[in-house]
Order: sequence, then structure tokens, then C-alpha cells
Amino acid sequence: MKLIIKNIGQLAGIDESGRERIMGADMKELRTLDNAYITAEDGMITAYGSMSELPEGRADEEIDARGGIVLPAFCDSHTHIVYAGSREIEFVDKINGLSYEEIAKRGGGILNSADRLHTAGEQELFDEAMPRLQQMMASGTGAAEIKSGYGLSTEDELKMLRVIRRMAEASPMTIRATFLGAHAVARNYIGRQSEYVDLICREMIPAVAAEGLADFVDVFCDRGFFTPEETARMLECGAKYGMRPKIHANELAASGGIQVGVKYEALSVDHLEFTGDEEIAALLGSKTMPTILPGAAFFLGMNYPPARKMIDAGLGVAIASDFNPGSSPSGNMKFIVSLACIKLRMNPQEALNAATLNGAYAMGLQKTHGSITRGKKANLWITQPVSSLEFLPYAYGTSLTAGLVLNGQKVL
Ligand code: NIG
Ligand code: FE
Repeated sequence: MKLIIKNIGQLAGIDESGRERIMGADMKELRTLDNAYITAEDGMITAYGSMSELPEGRADEEIDARGGIVLPAFCDSHTHIVYAGSREIEFVDKINGLSYEEIAKRGGGILNSADRLHTAGEQELFDEAMPRLQQMMASGTGAAEIKSGYGLSTEDELKMLRVIRRMAEASPMTIRATFLGAHAVARNYIGRQSEYVDLICREMIPAVAAEGLADFVDVFCDRGFFTPEETARMLECGAKYGMRPKIHANELAASGGIQVGVKYEALSVDHLEFTGDEEIAALLGSKTMPTILPGAAFFLGMNYPPARKMIDAGLGVAIASDFNPGSSPSGNMKFIVSLACIKLRMNPQEALNAATLNGAYAMGLQKTHGSITRGKKANLWITQPVSSLEFLPYAYGTSLTAGLVLNGQKVL
């Protein structure tokens, strides 16, 4: 199967350097080529160049980009899209003055979603979650990580992860699965948090590993949730089963989560609203990708992480949607890129690098996804004709999607 996309106004995100992530001052650069074509064969990018050098010969599928921009499809490295129902009542509670933590303390929040997930069947969850993948694709996303974490019992966590596996089989998107049993202490373990941590280590992680259901292990390491010590215990246990950590850290306080993530070589530490000099120092020189979720800070009306300071210190950062029913009910990565520009003061090029190659890195997909590179997967977002690359985040509420190619095939 051979595909050609012609009349590309600008091909952006080209990278033949072999680098796996983009850091510091390099984040400002996004290589582009004007008036271009790109070809793919058997799902992989084979060639690209100027329209004036368009190769002869026929393709099985031909797309006319009509002057639109073509970018690597977004790599959304942090989502929780398997959930039952929605939580707009809490949204109103927040408008009326309750904080995310207060809602959680009243038994709302994650535990509210856990109650609903408990009564939902696998098929029902699958049917609710698949359209969310479709919404994500509509904004240009081609790869995503999906977490469990609304089960909070062995049985329900397995149920969620089986749904994620089915979604990966059914969708053209590339999906990675993360076990997040330590998202909150289950209702029947309240007051017995360390016993719940024992349950995760003794029962849940081995059961998840036995079915090969998760690539990564996650813990909500934060004030009011799990401590760095408990996190360390669970990460050690996950490591025994080959699960690399990707953790929630420093959303609600400077909780030590970033340091524990770096210590256990987490692929990413995510949220990071409370990041100071010590945390930046811990991240520098590490393999851990700091991942910012500006949709959550936006939706909860909280402080934004110091992205500018982090990049200026030499760090690479990724951005992701955090699509979930409580703190970020949207998987629109194009909007997340706009928020990164507007609220984190990242340049459009920095934000696009953060949402593509650095997002791929945060899922361990950097060798196959996240840039326009010969031999990488042909996952391409085609935009409508626009005046410049900068127009994409500038027009923050407009879709601008003209097409999406995943695995070398047009899916939108
Ligand atoms: O990443 N902070 C922890 N977990 C999710 C929210 C989950 C929920 O509220 O349902 C997050 O924001
Ligand atoms: Fe999250």
C-alpha cells in the first residue's frame, strides 16, 4: 500500500538527526519544508521533498493537501479516557467555590468515578471510551497512553485494562497502557492506606503482569494521596514485573514526587504545578521527561507549572491532555498546544515539539513516532490551508483538521 500526499503548503517537524527528545533551546526549532510532498509505504514514511522533485509513478492512495500544513500526529502521553459517566456536577461545585481536594475529601472525585465504573460492564466501558479516541483523532492525535485507575480493586483494574487492550486492537491509533491502581485509596480501604499499598504490590501488579496488560505503572504521588515512600514501594514492585514508572507528581504540593520519579527512572513525571529549583535540578541530567498537563490547570483554575523556567534551564518538556472526567474533560491536543503558548509562554514551535516527539518519548515511542522521519510510522495530521504554523495555536478554538493519516492510511 503506497500513499502520497501532494501540495503540502508546509511539511513541519522534520527530523533526521536520530535524537530521541528535544531539550532546552533546541525546542524552539522545528524543521520545515515549504511546497512539499511526502510518501509512505506499508505504514512507514519512505520519502519527502519539494513538489518540484515529486517522483514519477502511481500510488494506491493520493491525497491533495491543498496547501495545508502536514505535521507528525500528536502523541498524547497522558490520558484517563476509560470511565463511566461524567462529573459535571463537580464542575459546578468548583464554580461555586470547592477545590479539587475538597471534592475528593467529600468522597467525590476519583472515588465517584470508581463507584460508577464498578457497576459498568466491559462492553459498556468500551462503547463509552471509543468515541473519545475519535474525538482525539479529530484534533490530530495519532498515539496515546491510557491509564487505569478508576477500578481500585484487582477485578475492576483488570476490567479497565482489558478495555484498553480492546481499544488498542480496534483503533488505528497507537495505544500504550498504564496501570494506575494507586490513583486513590479505594473506598473500603480508607484509613488503611498502607494495606491498600500492600494489595497493589501483592495482588494487583502480579495479576496485571500475568495478563500482560500494562506497559507502565503510575502512582498519584501527592499531598492527600500517596507519599514518596509508598510510591517507592510500588515502583519497586512494578519494576520487578518490567513496568517502567510514569507518575503523577507535584500537582497539589511540592510532594517529593518528582525526586522519587527520577530516582526510579520514570519515563515521565506528570503535572508539575509545584516545581521549584530543587525539582528542576533533579530532572536535569535524568532520563525522565517532565510532562505538563495545561488542560488540568486550566480546568481547575490552578497555577500553571513553570514551563518557561524549565526549558530555559535546559530541560525538554512534553505536553499532554490528561483527558479525564474530573480535571480535564477534553482530549483536544490542538487546544493543549494553544494553552501551552498562552499560559505556559511556550513558543508555537516549542509547544508542537512538546506535543509530538517529546510526547512520543514519554510513552517510549520516540523511535517510531513524533517526527517526520524516513522509516518512522506515517502518522500525519493534515491541516486546512493556513497562513503560517503560528496560526495553528493562535486560532485556539478552531479545529483546522483537514485530514489524518495513521499507519499510512487516511482515517479522517
Ligand atoms: O491527572 N490527578 C490525578 N488524576 C487525574 C484526575 C482524575 C480525576 O479527577 O478523575 C489527573 O488530573
Ligand atoms: Fe492524570
